[in-house]
Amino acid sequence: MLARLTNKHILLGVTGGIAAYKSAELIRRLRDAGAEVQVIMTPAAREFITPLTLQALSGNPVHTELLDPEAEAGMGHIELARWADLFLVAPASADALARLAGGIADDLLTTCWLAASGKKAVAPAMNQQMWADRATASNIETLLARGVAVFGPGSGSQACGDIGAGRLLEAVELAALCADQFESRQLTGRHVIITAGPTREALDPVRYLSNHSSGKMGFALAEACAEAGARVTLIAGPVHLATPPRVQRVDVVSACDMLGASETAVNDAVASLGAARVVFIATAAVADYRPAQVAGQKIKKGLKDDTLDITLIKNPDIVATIAARADKPFVMGFAAETQQVEGYACDKLSRKRLDLIACNDVSRGDIGFQSDDNAMVVFWPDAGQGSSAAAPGLGRAELAKAPKTQIARALVGLLAERLAAAPGGTVAGDASLTRHADETL
Ligand SMILES: Cc1cc2nc3c(=O)[nH]c(=O)nc-3n(C[C@H](O)[C@H](O)[C@H](O)COP(=O)(O)O)c2cc1C
Repeated sequence: MLARLTNKHILLGVTGGIAAYKSAELIRRLRDAGAEVQVIMTPAAREFITPLTLQALSGNPVHTELLDPEAEAGMGHIELARWADLFLVAPASADALARLAGGIADDLLTTCWLAASGKKAVAPAMNQQMWADRATASNIETLLARGVAVFGPGSGSQACGDIGAGRLLEAVELAALCADQFESRQLTGRHVIITAGPTREALDPVRYLSNHSSGKMGFALAEACAEAGARVTLIAGPVHLATPPRVQRVDVVSACDMLGASETAVNDAVASLGAARVVFIATAAVADYRPAQVAGQKIKKGLKDDTLDITLIKNPDIVATIAARADKPFVMGFAAETQQVEGYACDKLSRKRLDLIACNDVSRGDIGFQSDDNAMVVFWPDAGQGSSAAAPGLGRAELAKAPKTQIARALVGLLAERLAAAPGGTVAGDASLTRHADETL
C-alpha cells in the first residue's frame, strides 16, 4: 500500500516536541516509499533536532523562515504550499494544533498551512494531560470538522514519566496513514476479478509446459484495484509473489483450473452485484495448448529414440469464454507479443469482444515478463471523438515505461474512465460499442 506514495509530494511540518526526533525516521520511510519530502521546522522544533539532519534525510533544504527574502526568491511559502499533495504536521505540538485550529499565520508552518489546498493531516504528540485538556480536544474537533486527518496519538509510557494518550505514532504507522490518504474511490462498488501469472500444463507427475510470466503485472493491478476501492479476487497461477493487502487470492495450476476458478468467481460476483458492476481482467499468460495425455508415471528416456512426440490439444480461451457470456461483465484483456504488437492487440480486442486491451512488446527485454517495469499501449472501442488516427474506431492511450505499480495505477484510471463513459456508468454489455469494433477491424 505504501506504493501509493510513489512520486507524491509530502510537506512535513515539524514542531517543538520531544518526539521531533521521530520525524527523521518518518522522512526515511516516506522516501523509501517513493515520496518526495520537503520539511518545514518551527523555531521550537530546531531546539529538539537539527535542520541539518532533516535536510540530509529529505534531500532538500529545510524551510524555517517566513520573512526571508532569499527563501522567497527560491521556493516561496505559497509555492511550497501549492507543491504539497499532503501537508502533514508530525509531531504536532499542542501549541501548533491551537494555531492551526485558530487560523493563525505567524510563522512559515502556519502560513503554509492556510495557503495549502491539498490534503492535510496532523499527528499530535504531547503529555497526556495536555492531550486531555479541553482546549486541545476542541482544537482537534475543529480540525476534524475542516477535513484534516488526525493520526493518533498512541498511548503508553511518555518521556515525562506519565502513562496515557499523547505519544506520536511510530514512523511506520505514520507512513501507512499517509499512503491511505491517497486511496482513490475510482472503483468503489465494483468487483474486479483478475487472472495472473503463468499456467502449468502437466506432462507427467514431474514435468510441465509453462512460460516466463512472473505475475507481477497482475498482482500490481490487483493491488491498484483494491486501492481504488474495488473488491478484488486474484486468480493466480504458480508464482512467487505475496498476496496484496485486501485481495482475495485463489491459487490454480493449469489453464482448465484457471477457467473453472474464473467462471466460479464471475458467477458469484454477477449474482451478487449484477454484470454491470463486475470487471474481469485477464493478465495471465495462459498456455494455449496442453499435453493431450498426462502420463501416470514419469516418462523415461527411451534407449533407442532420439525424439519424443507429444500431442498437444488446445486449452480453453478463458477471456473469450467470459466475454461471450450473456451476462457479460466488463472485460479487459492483455496481449504480450513479440511482433506486430498493436495489430494483434486490436484484432484480439474485436475477435474476443473485449472492452479494453493493454498490449506490450515482450521482445524488448527491458519490459514485460520478469521485469519490474512495463510500457503499454491500450485500445478500446470508440466511435466518437476519442477515436485515434492510428486505429480508426478505437480509442488509444500510451503508457510510457514505468514501474509496474505505476502502470497498474494508470490502467486503473483508464479502466475507471471507460466504466464511467458508458451509459449508466458502465460500458459492460454495450452491444453498440462491441459491434462497432467488429465492423471496423
Ligand atoms: C523539553 C520540552 C519538551 C516539550 N515537549 C512537548 C511535546 O511533546 N508536545 C507539546 O505539545 N509541547 C511540548 N513542549 C512545549 C513546546 O515546545 C512549546 O509549546 C512550543 O511553544 C511549541 O512551539 P511550536 O508549536 O511552534 O513548535 C515541550 C517543551 C520542552 C521544554
